[in-house]
Amino acid sequence: KPIIIRTIAELRQEISAYRRRSSYDQKVGFVPTMGYLHDGHASLLRKSVSDNGLTVLSIFVNPIQFGPGEDLDKYPRDEERDIRVATEAGTDIVFLPSVQEMYPQSRVTTVTVAEVTDSLCGASRPGHFDGVATVVAKLFNIVQPDRAYFGMKDAQQVAVVTRMVQDLNLPVEIVPCPILREKDGLALSSRNVYLGAEERTQALQLSKSLSQVEEWIMEGMTATQIIARLKAEIEFFPLADIDYVDILTYPELTPPNGELPLKEIDVSLLVAVAVRYGKTRLIDNKLLNPS
Ligand code: PAJ
Repeated sequence: KPIIIRTIAELRQEISAYRRRSSYDQKVGFVPTMGYLHDGHASLLRKSVSDNGLTVLSIFVNPIQFGPGEDLDKYPRDEERDIRVATEAGTDIVFLPSVQEMYPQSRVTTVTVAEVTDSLCGASRPGHFDGVATVVAKLFNIVQPDRAYFGMKDAQQVAVVTRMVQDLNLPVEIVPCPILREKDGLALSSRNVYLGAEERTQALQLSKSLSQVEEWIMEGMTATQIIARLKAEIEFFPLADIDYVDILTYPELTPPNGELPLKEIDVSLLVAVAVRYGKTRLIDNKLLNPS
């Protein structure tokens, strides 16, 4: 059973006690989340448990990464079930701080990662990645993990956190983990619980279209053509309201030449989509590595 900790002081004590009693090759793995855990989160926990001597999970719905009008107050929560999922995955410590514990005074220090936040979710959610980078930096300083596990479901988040760690020389290894999906292809997300039945059916087009992109590239299509085709396929379903569909190099997140057949471009490419179905905004992506 994991230890449940709610204060920063107690967490620091527990982790430094672990470091004192264990040998140097016993690493500390960290999985930051906002809770309402699903098997995607559990896959990060399982990877950390298999790689490290101690696995710390944080569950904190970080208010500063939500914009006005976003779903902060409606973000789903179920602490009891989260602890059950964490236990089954073999988690050692669950850190559940309050907002007061994480932000006890008005905050005048913010971590801003430029450039890689200009596109995709960074463009459509102003300030979002400042909130993410700031809370992840705080959590890294609190936990001081050797490794931290992030899902490629949020590929831009991985790019942002990786760049922050490089630029600030934070002593942590970022471990990107694959996207977990339902059997029908829908990427697992805490927000999937908001989807009505018809919205969920129409949202299956996201993973369906993304899974075809590799073939379209082999057929000689350009980025411009593929983006247009993705938009058309997604918008064929009337409940879909597209936020963005884009193809960018990864992890730089800069546009490739849109007029060249992508099979002639020898860089990693991220095909990323964000689409609203009713009130629920879903994101999904596919990372393509040069063969
Ligand atoms: P949250 O959305 O709870 O996600 C926590 C971690 O789980 C992230 O690294 C995310 O990419 C990963 N994840 C979510 N769905 C996944 C899936 N289907 N497959 C694999 N991994 C998946 O991301 C956040 O929280 C926050 O921004 C946080 C980093 C905790 C900072 O507040």
